[in-house]
Amino acid sequence: MTEIRVPGDKSIAHRFLILAALAEGDSVLSGMPAALDVRSTAACLRALGGTVEDGGAGRMAIKGSTGWRSPTSGLDCGNSGTTARLLTGLVAGLGLDAELRGDESLSRRPMDRVVYPLQAMGARVRYTDRRGHLPLRIEGRASGGLRALRYRPRISSAQVRAALLLAGLTSRTDVEIEDRFRPRDHTERILRSQGAPIISEPEGAGERIRFPASSWSGGLKPLAAAVPGDLSSAAFLIVAALLSGTDLTLRGVGLNPTRTGFLDVLSEMGARVKTEQTGVQAGEPVGDISVIASTMQPFSIEEAVVPRLVDEIPALAVLASRIPGVSVVRGAGDLRMKESDRLAFLAFNLSTLGVRCEELTDGLRVHGSQAPVTGFVRTGGDHRIAMAFGALGVAPGCHVTVDDPQCADVSFPGYWEALKQVTTGEDSR
Ligand code: S3P
Repeated sequence: MTEIRVPGDKSIAHRFLILAALAEGDSVLSGMPAALDVRSTAACLRALGGTVEDGGAGRMAIKGSTGWRSPTSGLDCGNSGTTARLLTGLVAGLGLDAELRGDESLSRRPMDRVVYPLQAMGARVRYTDRRGHLPLRIEGRASGGLRALRYRPRISSAQVRAALLLAGLTSRTDVEIEDRFRPRDHTERILRSQGAPIISEPEGAGERIRFPASSWSGGLKPLAAAVPGDLSSAAFLIVAALLSGTDLTLRGVGLNPTRTGFLDVLSEMGARVKTEQTGVQAGEPVGDISVIASTMQPFSIEEAVVPRLVDEIPALAVLASRIPGVSVVRGAGDLRMKESDRLAFLAFNLSTLGVRCEELTDGLRVHGSQAPVTGFVRTGGDHRIAMAFGALGVAPGCHVTVDDPQCADVSFPGYWEALKQVTTGEDSR
């Protein structure tokens, strides 16, 4: 049995940093990932007047900030969509002026999903170059405050929710959001653990959340928490273990039920997956995951489950390519808007490796077989494409080379070493 610890959850780490910086008092965080995306959020908070001290070894001390200021130069969000979208809401709510920019990949990703509802709240946000894309400029000082929002997003997105909740929190404006499908709920859980009144009502497969911020006179409690391990990073190692026949245990991983769709699909496929909750950090369940390789069936994923496994579809697609039969993903059109067009990159690379794979407008149909694959993969600089095909490369008889292994650092520095541990059976406890 190989045991590995994966880096801290990126989604939670971004939110811990921002919500700690908004708290009344000083926070101490541990288990912060060295992921470049999370560094982007920390750097942007510092540029806005926040005090985020890196104590090394994943520890960070954050002062509850009252000294927010409009930055003198642009906020660089790097490759991180979560940084860009959450900070747009934060800066608009704080009533500051700032320009947000990102790298080439981030500048291709859509920003309207947060800009429209923020404009509906009265925020002044404009694109400085190309409509719908970074760079954008927020003129918070000229907006004269925000107004309450009731909103039904076209796409259910945790980033949109978080951006609007941050705008509501910092401007003390009521926010109500009704999602068709329930996205990951980290922001709500962490806010609640800090004392904020966030109300959630299930609506079929979806959810309505309300934050009556205008009538809440309290302040956010500081955080003293460890970031749970990232299930989205763990997913690649789990797939590698299943493909190479290794029994694997991952300790201290986030088990938030809005994120565990990947584990449910594996169980439905016949993999032997066991989870055991060991604790809770700022409202987030944490525990151990064990997988034992076994014979598996193809899967079929529908739109309603996609939010619970959206980042794991690259891992599932490469797994599907090794399982005889046809696996299908539908309702995942938003994957075209991630760090790359993931549906196109998955289909192209699988086909190049000799796997029959049909690219659908909103998904994939993968015809799996156990014939060994060999070849070269283009990642488009997308960390999850690189890690997925890296995992495929450990299957017996398979040899896969990726063009840009370094891009894994965006979320999982040390991935290639961890992958080696899965196949050699060394522990990293
Ligand atoms: C994230 C939410 C998801 C996910 C992304 C991180 C977050 O995106 O794909 O990697 O931290 O809120 P959407 O909110 O657009 O679904």
